[in-house]
This record gives sequence, structure tokens and C-alpha cells, in this order.
Amino acid sequence: MIETSSIVGLNKFSRTLTQEISNPAAQAMLYGIGLTEADMEKAQIGIASTGYEGNPCNMHLNGLSVYVKQGVQASGMVGLIFNTIGVSDGMTNGNDGMRYSLPSRDLIADSIEAVVSAQWYDGVITVVGCDKNMPGAVMAMARLDRPGIMVYGGTIRSGHYKGQKLDIISAFEAYGKKVAGTISDEDYKGVIQNSIPGQGACGGMYTANTMASSIEAMGLSLPFSSSYPATHEGKQEECKKIGAAMRELLRRGITPKDIITKESLENALTLVMALGGSTNAALHYLAIARSAGLSLSLDDIQVISDRTPFLADLKPSGKYYMEDMLGIGGVPAVTKYLWQNGLIHGDCLTVTGKTVAENLAEAPDLDFESQKIVFPLSQPVKPTGHIQVLYGNLAPNGGVAKITGKEGTRFEGTAKVCEHEGEIIDFLNRGEILPGQVIVIRNSGPKGGPGMAEMLKPTSAIMGAGLGDKVALITDGRFSGGTHGFVVGHITPEAVEGGTIAFVRDGDRITLDATTREITLHVSDAELTERRAGWVKPAPRFTKGILGKYIRAVKPANEGCVTDEV
Ligand code: FES
Repeated sequence: MIETSSIVGLNKFSRTLTQEISNPAAQAMLYGIGLTEADMEKAQIGIASTGYEGNPCNMHLNGLSVYVKQGVQASGMVGLIFNTIGVSDGMTNGNDGMRYSLPSRDLIADSIEAVVSAQWYDGVITVVGCDKNMPGAVMAMARLDRPGIMVYGGTIRSGHYKGQKLDIISAFEAYGKKVAGTISDEDYKGVIQNSIPGQGACGGMYTANTMASSIEAMGLSLPFSSSYPATHEGKQEECKKIGAAMRELLRRGITPKDIITKESLENALTLVMALGGSTNAALHYLAIARSAGLSLSLDDIQVISDRTPFLADLKPSGKYYMEDMLGIGGVPAVTKYLWQNGLIHGDCLTVTGKTVAENLAEAPDLDFESQKIVFPLSQPVKPTGHIQVLYGNLAPNGGVAKITGKEGTRFEGTAKVCEHEGEIIDFLNRGEILPGQVIVIRNSGPKGGPGMAEMLKPTSAIMGAGLGDKVALITDGRFSGGTHGFVVGHITPEAVEGGTIAFVRDGDRITLDATTREITLHVSDAELTERRAGWVKPAPRFTKGILGKYIRAVKPANEGCVTDEV
């Protein structure tokens, strides 16, 4: 039984609708959805679910939202579920569908902002489970700055086929093996049919798990939110506990901007580096910072990478899956270890109402004797972070590389230019992708794609064809969190904005150096000026609809590809 005194006065926004005599229509509608007179005194919490039936990352979120609602109601508030869209990167079929993936992040942010603002909700709980859903939700929470908590839908369990563990990347790489003729039809089918055993987000330290674990470290999810797999009973328990946490945030007036600070962004990015997370985190944290009115640059991200050892043996570069993390103490145990060693700011506030340090006092310790998933600082996978920001004449405003060390730190080769992502498959089929090449995929940036597609198909096909350690790939597009190999994305300015990447020709020499952080096209300035003189800016691929709007609004990758700034 909730004490009345603990729920009075928490309806700072919704009282506009429920209490003011000038809002009879709103009150009639609220009675119409079943609220009672007593409910009209309570805080109203919007529960934003990106649930939809069409993909495993999101298929269970509407169900989890019901548990969240039960917890909200049990805590003396009114919970009102609404849906926003989601787009599954794993189901976009190359550039055509992938164009909508990054724009979906901003669409999610816009839609949550619109519903919570328009309906006067006092707080928002976001129930999300795929790559763009999480940054989209957090951007909205920062913009709204009303008490908010993010609930992660949880990671998927691994699939199995012929004694091998599988995940979504196994399916992509099976395609590369098929192109290379190194897998039988039966095994190809077997891998496809068994990679995804049910609900949950892609299982390695790919973008979804990267964002979930780092947002938890930032303090915007309850401890262990990123560690419970989607089917683990702890996930339902977490959902039921959210209501009590939300009531406390409302009571104390703690809002996302109290939680998202420069220091907590650093905590989030430190987790990304320690766990070997996705390059997409760079893009999304630039955007989250801007939504919270904070300044964060690629150079700030490099500073964190330089001071954070890469510790985890997680996929895509390592052996283990996110589902394995819970058994070693989950993200809280890793965060605690980093905090004990001075790499995490302990005094940042979190959605528990406590500081990071106070939360971590109850967290388990990593046991370096019994587990081999996270290494000690004395024996890192790599002494500094794997995300490197490269600059040079090919990327004056930066490019983002993922260098785990396994692929080496320097690559020098000759350019093989693809005007779009799909072209590489044709080149592979014709045997034109050769060791020593730097594959250049252009016209894939935020405006040019549009939507800055992930190069999942090309990188998986290269891996599957056995060329992973023999070629490099650079692009003004992005990479999936599942990508490994010598890759540099987010090249800015992008091709359609007249970036140097537009002027690369087959056979040009390119150097990528993660130690000196250079990305250089070995073509003289005079020659580049001549090539540029003959260049005509391409017409936008879309002028209407969401993509037309996106082309007009989107900022470059080094500004997080946000769409809500002039
Ligand atoms: Fe949703 Fe991978 S496609 S997490």
C-alpha cells in the first residue's frame, strides 16, 4: 500500500490537464480511458516502447512494457504505454533499407519528445532494444529533461548449429562463405535457420549491447539492465522495479540533465573502450551530448580511448557473447573494477537516486582467477582503446576507426573505389577484390546515402571470402558493431559535400595509421585541385519524405548526425 503523502505533488506537468478547470475535454478523455477521480491526482508516466513484432530485438518489448506499467501503478502513479517506431539494422537489405536506420534514431527521439510533451507526462520510461532505439530514447529524455529511466530489452541467447555457437554475424558471414564457395548449401541453410533462437538484441558487443552497457554506466538505467538477457527472469524483475525508482526520481526532482553530465558521458565512453564496443557509440554519444546541451567532440573521445585499456574478449573481435557477462558479475562488476582503478567518476548521479560509487558498493567483484572474459588492467587485450579518430587529407574533419590490434595498426595499399555499397559484392563475385587494396565505399554518408548506411554486408562478405586481414575498408558511411578488420568510417566531409573521398581513383595509394592517427591519400594537392575542378555536386537522391527531410537537416558525422539543430 502506497502512502498518499509519498505520491502527492508529483504531477508537476500532468496537473495542467487533470486539475485545471479550463481543460474539461482532456479530463473527459482521461476518464474515458478508465482513470478514476483518485487517479487524476497522480503523476502520469509515459512508457515508450519500441516494440514491434517484426524483429527479435523488439518483439518482446510491448510485453516488458506491461510489467513496467504494473510497477508504475503499484508505486502510486498512472502508467500510459505508447509506441514509437523501430528499425532493425539486421533486416534492412543493404543500402535501400539501411538508409532508414540512422534517421530512425532521430525519428524515435522526435516521437518520444512529441508524445511526452503533448500529453503532459510527468516522466518517461523508455523500453528499447535495438541499435538506434537506445540513443534515440536517450536523446529524447535529454531534450525533455523530465524524470526518465531507460529499460533495455536485453541481449539474445546464442544460437547453435553442429556444435558451434552462432549469432547474427554468423548469418552474414555465411553469405560471404557462400560467395566464396566455401560452405555447402545444407550448412548455409543450417546457419541461417539457427543463428537467432528468439527474442533479444544481437548478442555480441555490437551496437545494441554497446549502447545498453554504456548507458547503464552513464546512470540512466538500473544496475544490471544491460546484463540480463531478454529471456532471463531478472529482466521482468527489473521492469517491475522501475516504478519505485521513477517515483523516487519524481519525489527528488532528479532529471536526465542531472545524470547526463560531461563526467557521466566520460563514464559511458570508458565502458565502450574497456568492452571493445561499436564505433557507432562515437556517433551516438556526440548526439546525446548535444541533446543534453553539452559539448563533446571526437577529440574528447580520443582522449578517453587513449587512457582506457581494452579489456574484454567479447565478439566481434573476441570469443564471448553478452549473455556470458551476467555470470561474471555483469556490467556492474566491470564498472566497479574500472572505478576502483580510477577510470570511472564515482560521484555522478544515477536513476537509482544514488551515485555511481554508491551503486557499485553493492556490485560483485570480477574474479580474474575463474573468468576469462574480462582481463585485468595488467594484461589488457590492448593497452589503450580500440576506437581511434584519424585525420588527414582524406578526412580533414575526422574518420573513426576500430583498431583492436589484431589487424595491425598500419595499412598501406591501393584504392579500389565502390560508388556505393552494393558494388563490392559485384567486385567480389568477379574476383576483383585483391589483397593489399584499400576498398573505398563512398556516397554513403549522412546526406549522400542518405542515412549513413552500415557496411555490414561488405565487411561480412570480405570476412567470409577470407580477405579480412588482407584488405582495408574506408567509407563515409558507418560500420555495424559486428564489424571487425581494418576499417575506417564516418569520413568527414562526406563525398557529396565535396570531401576528398569523392576524388579518390582506383590505384591511388592510401595510408591508414592508427599510431600516428593519419589517413592519407598520396595524391598531390595540385592533382586533387584538378580533380575537384571537374566535380559536380550530385543532386540529392531524395527530395521528399523522411529521407528528403533528413538530407536537408542532418549534420555531419563529427557532429553526431543530429537533425534538430539549425
Ligand atoms: Fe537489433 Fe542487432 S538488429 S540489435
